[in-house]
Amino acid sequence: MMQHSTPHVPTAADMIEFSPGHPDPALLPVAGMGRAAMETVQQAGPLALMYGAERGPAALLDQLRTHIGQQEGTMPPGDCMMITGGISQALDMLCARLTRRGDIVLVESPTYHLALHIFRDYGLTLAPIPVDDQGLRVDMVENVYKTLQLQGQQVRFLYTIPTFNNPTGMNLAPERRSDLVALAQRTGLLIIEDDAYRELWYDAPPPPSLWQLAPVGPVIRLGSFTKVLAPGLRLGWMLATPAIVQRCLNSGLLNSGGGINHFTAQVVSTFLAQEGFDAHLTMLRDAYHRRRDILLAALARYLPNDCTWRTPMGGFFVWIRLPTHYDTARLLPTSHAAGVGFVPGHCFYSGSGGERYLRLSFSLLTPEVMEEGVRRLSNVLLR
Ligand SMILES: Cc1ncc(COP(=O)(O)O)c(C=O)c1O
Repeated sequence: MMQHSTPHVPTAADMIEFSPGHPDPALLPVAGMGRAAMETVQQAGPLALMYGAERGPAALLDQLRTHIGQQEGTMPPGDCMMITGGISQALDMLCARLTRRGDIVLVESPTYHLALHIFRDYGLTLAPIPVDDQGLRVDMVENVYKTLQLQGQQVRFLYTIPTFNNPTGMNLAPERRSDLVALAQRTGLLIIEDDAYRELWYDAPPPPSLWQLAPVGPVIRLGSFTKVLAPGLRLGWMLATPAIVQRCLNSGLLNSGGGINHFTAQVVSTFLAQEGFDAHLTMLRDAYHRRRDILLAALARYLPNDCTWRTPMGGFFVWIRLPTHYDTARLLPTSHAAGVGFVPGHCFYSGSGGERYLRLSFSLLTPEVMEEGVRRLSNVLLR
């Protein structure tokens, strides 16, 4: 349900936080999800509340496969897909099922900082691969992979966010996507594609996913309802080879507890059938598109000339580069004292790096608040 209230103009005492990459609560489908929950219980009765199939409810899997088929032209085979508890749970499960402590994971640098936390939970060693303005340096991947293998290291997979990357907002260039998938097919490197933001495009639909370039190939693709419906659902999906999906389905976790978030998955299925996903996505794209443009306009108006950023074509984030003498981690306490927060760039690096970068999110804040936040940030930078 959209809330229409008078704009909140922040006072000096209000902290303006550009850190969280969360959807705006005012854009969550509260009423529709309520109707879907009621309908699910009425239709399915007690079965809605029992354990569910390990793979997830067949109805939801069919809806997702059809949606992907319509959007991207390739409908995933049924045995290649399963429901997950969102991307975080899927990553955790893949680490549990595919890795051993001490194995290597290749990560782009910078990357989603909380995925790094999951990899560290499993004692994995992170090997960074740099990015440039076209995304991941695919030309460096094979060399790093082979060198590590020659050293006797077990490289389990490459984790990447090729579409509306968190934190950079950038897309991996189309030719690099083909090169990366070809490299994976040639070398046997497994790729985990985190596709959290694909549906949130603002100017034009994004390039094909890595998975779409080689369905049932070397790519495990992870999707989520977090950004497009609601994070509290803790629901998403995985596409992989039947063998990898089966390996996850055979886990003790699913064997003991059944499909992940079975009730939620059924409610989401009812929501998709009754409320319509496409209209909801269009509403979100319009709302976040406006916010992105407002943030970009405020940055252009207030930030010092020697700060640079690029327009993200989708997702939630703008990645800002400051002149070399800045260290954004050291700047943060001053910035907090001035009433504005951001995520310092170093958080998104598995090793050193990112000191002169910061990430701003435009998903949560209203236009007035964003404008005031950027004004405060510019004052901090100009001190
Ligand atoms: C790139 C990326 N992957 C995964 C997640 C978390 O997804 P989920 O809520 O489905 O676990 C986020 C949330 O910020 C994200 O930015």
